[in-house]
Amino acid sequence: MASDVSPLEEARLAYRPQLPAALRTGIAQVTLEERDPAALAVAIRERFPHTSGRPALRLVPGTGPPPRGPLRVGVVLSGGQAPGGHNVILGLVDALAGFDPTSSVVGFLGGPKGILTSEYRELPRAAVEPYRNTGGFDLLGSGRDKIETPEQLETCTEACRALALGGLVVVGGDDSNTNAAILAEHFLAQGLGTVVVGVPKTIDGDMKGGGIEASFGFDTATKVYAELVGNIARDARSAGKYWHFVRLMGRSASHVTLECALRTRPNVTWIAEEVEERGQTLAEIVERIAEVVRRRAEAGRSYGVCLVPEGLIEFVPEMRALMTALDAVLDREVGASHGAAPAERVASVSGLLGASARATFDSLPAPIREQLLLDSDSHGNVQVSKIDTEALLVERVEARVRAWKAEGRFPGAFHAQTHFFGYEGRCAAPSNFDADYTYTLGHVAAALVAFDRTGYVAAVQGLAGSVERWSASAVPLTSLLGMELRKGRSVPVIGKALVRTDGPVFHAFARERERWAIEDAYLYPGAIQYFGPPEVAGRGPLSLALESASG
Ligand code: FBP
Repeated sequence: MASDVSPLEEARLAYRPQLPAALRTGIAQVTLEERDPAALAVAIRERFPHTSGRPALRLVPGTGPPPRGPLRVGVVLSGGQAPGGHNVILGLVDALAGFDPTSSVVGFLGGPKGILTSEYRELPRAAVEPYRNTGGFDLLGSGRDKIETPEQLETCTEACRALALGGLVVVGGDDSNTNAAILAEHFLAQGLGTVVVGVPKTIDGDMKGGGIEASFGFDTATKVYAELVGNIARDARSAGKYWHFVRLMGRSASHVTLECALRTRPNVTWIAEEVEERGQTLAEIVERIAEVVRRRAEAGRSYGVCLVPEGLIEFVPEMRALMTALDAVLDREVGASHGAAPAERVASVSGLLGASARATFDSLPAPIREQLLLDSDSHGNVQVSKIDTEALLVERVEARVRAWKAEGRFPGAFHAQTHFFGYEGRCAAPSNFDADYTYTLGHVAAALVAFDRTGYVAAVQGLAGSVERWSASAVPLTSLLGMELRKGRSVPVIGKALVRTDGPVFHAFARERERWAIEDAYLYPGAIQYFGPPEVAGRGPLSLALESASG
């Protein structure tokens, strides 16, 4: 009879995720070492009186046992999918069972909404086991609901109380962990004993810093995108007739694009944070691409690869000004216009903009104008994944090349193909790095619940080294919070960590990019390897290795 899982899935089921030495004997054999609490902004201290001022923690071998048990723990997968979420749950289930076999785990369905509607399922080990080392969040589903109103907080309190949860593990990115911080504070204020623990997830790689080295899923997703970019580079070189413009997910941060650039060496790569620093306009960006296109054509290479982070659009000065102006206008937009057909709505919104923003808006291709009018998500993030920045760049570069051709200044041809990679990588089977990292994070989360430490995010240090030597720790959620303007209100959020243009990862790229522009210096990383020697199957993100090597 045909199997219901692919041969690779079957082989991956057999892979036992590795744990660092400190956690191998189980959470009953660890103890917590306290570090100095971080200094917090007054606004955060005032809003989080119960959970601020907590020390960072390190899990070290000790005598245990933790003070609580047996435990019933809820888990929720939140936000965009990222490879390894199922291993977090497996790690949690295994760690709790190893500590007290009568412990149990329940999973909320469809993301945070599942807590609000009390939709959940029991997660005995047998239910989770078949998901070991699989990508996706399909065991529970996910969602992007924000928990913020007093009513919602109360509903969550009631849901956790009714289920007698000793802990709630929120697996999510910056916004979901902001939810976790708010819940932890609220539960303590209500005298509810449900410990809230966050786990850093996101393919974007922008939940890091302050003791968090990396979010899980980044390694696998970037390896998938890099494989595709490498394949495209080779196709471009083989056919010799296309320029490929590839937009990559990552929201505002360009970590994904930077990692893929280092893995594949494309001809042009934009890092949005640098564009912002330099104040580069759309015209300047187009000019630079067109220049590389021309120089390559002169060298007989009418092909190439250009990487574009999806957040680029937000960092180009005139586009940012336009988006701010649109925000204000869309806030005031009423009835008829909001519900009108896209073309009508575009015309009506254009009429409401000031002269400079209107000029920028009207100069954009119709689809981009419509995409700019889409609502932001529940957390106030612009949905940059829905804006075809790569198509805008192609259109402008084409116009530039046409003008040069008319002047007899362009020797070759320019034909472009556009791509957007994001969803392709979010549910890939986790790399060995992500499989081990997430299983470890599940253990750390279990330990924090067992030690009754609320308001923390699970963390692992030393990720660039061998798993054996990773160290487990916990970072107070409040230490990651800052005040930001979202949907016109100043609210506490965990800020997105952007690419540092003074950091070692950017420098490694910047040193080489001029050579990559004109030569064919492409690297072809190929598919993720799950088996084989450590140099192909065992390494994590290049970014992490570069950061760690620079101290
Ligand atoms: P998270 O921040 O929730 O991890 O989501 C990451 C992401 O994949 C972004 O890179 C992308 O912009 C966004 O999700 C797309 O959102 P959606 O899944 O709602 O289309």
